[in-house]
Amino acid sequence: MIGRKIIQLECVDSTNNYVAKMILENDIEFGTVILADEQLNGKGQRGSVWHSKSGQNLLFSMYLDSAILSVSNQFVLSKVVAVSIVKALNVFGVESKIKWPNDVYVHDKKIAGVLIENQISGQNLKSSIIGIGLNLNQTEFEGLNATSLRNEINDFVPVYDFALSLINQFNSCWVMLEQGEVGEINRLYLNDFYLINLERYFRDSKGAFLGKIKGVTENGYLILESKEREKKIYDLKEVSFI
Ligand code: BTN
Repeated sequence: MIGRKIIQLECVDSTNNYVAKMILENDIEFGTVILADEQLNGKGQRGSVWHSKSGQNLLFSMYLDSAILSVSNQFVLSKVVAVSIVKALNVFGVESKIKWPNDVYVHDKKIAGVLIENQISGQNLKSSIIGIGLNLNQTEFEGLNATSLRNEINDFVPVYDFALSLINQFNSCWVMLEQGEVGEINRLYLNDFYLINLERYFRDSKGAFLGKIKGVTENGYLILESKEREKKIYDLKEVSFI
């Protein structure tokens, strides 16, 4: 069960790195969750840095046995994580959306980011480190387009309480995955998808164009439909929201 063991740390370089080190030392069981008050080298997506004020937010990593997933359909893990975050936020009274590929937004501001690091064995995953940074009680974001649970509900939420709620949601979604209910996971994922079916400007290598998000392929590529109803599929970095 995920979250049977929860390790709370005051300060660490990165909770994801902490898990990686425990894996190397053969000193971790699947389902272990690491929480930290502060990270000195919090890692974000694509080599960015994850900033979080000490003691105020959720800095969370969990270690999973992901051998049931093949490398080609590993994106379903991102879906399960995103859906669990949205559900946990919902329990605390906040409606949020999944912004492709790995962010969670409230209105037009980021509240959470996810960094998944997979270990692979042949055609399948072996294990995964799921890192989640979620703004809980921080109220100032110094020019960043970000919000927090506290800013949204005007109330303080203890980090540990939120972590338990997230673990609960994650356990439920994980059971769905184990039972092969991928259709239901996809439905939940697209149900809370940021900007889906709304006409917006996007930019690709050929310039700006008007289109709509229609969904995500099995391997995590974004499906857009241009105004001329042409279907386009994009990998990370190939398209941006304007
Ligand atoms: C992003 O860039 O949006 C992803 C941010 C992921 C941050 C979390 S905080 C806990 C875990 N440990 C890390 O070093 N990164 C992730």
